[in-house]
Amino acid sequence: MELVIASNNEGKIEEFRRLLSPLGYEVMSQSEAGIELFVDETAFTFEENAELKARAIFDRLGCCVLADDSGICVDSLDGDPGVYSARYGGPFLDDNGRNQILLRNMRDIPEGERGAEFVCVLHFISEFGDDIEAKGVCRGEITFEPRGVNGFGYDPIFLYEGKTFAEHTAEFKNKVSHRAKALEILLEKIKKYNEIAYGEGGFKNDHN
Ligand code: IMP
Repeated sequence: MELVIASNNEGKIEEFRRLLSPLGYEVMSQSEAGIELFVDETAFTFEENAELKARAIFDRLGCCVLADDSGICVDSLDGDPGVYSARYGGPFLDDNGRNQILLRNMRDIPEGERGAEFVCVLHFISEFGDDIEAKGVCRGEITFEPRGVNGFGYDPIFLYEGKTFAEHTAEFKNKVSHRAKALEILLEKIKKYNEIAYGEGGFKNDHN
């Protein structure tokens, strides 16, 4: 069964492909599915943004779709940058620029009060148009300066179990991250859904 990911990010597509192929899905990016769709992430929650992106593709193609929305929420900034994580500080900044702005906005926040969490919401729409949602959260702290070279985005300033995400290996991060947690929850929900829709073992096709 075809499953279109509402993204063209190769890293994301590969991760989703690895985990969803065993369930029988043929995972493809939206460009592989033949559409170029840019959805404005205008909503105020991760949940609504993920649903907006998934629904836009489902309305066009009518097949299974998976969309995600993610970001970092800082306790002392009332949850900012949140849904604005990708554009925090303005559209012309790069990852390092955004990290510097965040550190500057937290310059008066002492150690012990620098709690933050990465959030990932996944929104799946089945071939019948049913919605399945899963949320993963990974809690840590914001450092006082960037550390490490791995990862992307806010990884160099997100401290988790003694190291930043940019100092941990990708393998470690992929086990504990907000995305990994959301995916684990989503996989279980999809398996249960398919068992109800198709009986034990889910649907059958050429891939399983
Ligand atoms: P989106 O989910 O593709 O809209 O991206 C949200 C933004 O949140 C990204 O551009 C990153 O800045 C940030 N972000 C989401 N997940 C991570 C992560 O695992 N590490 C670092 N930054 C992240």
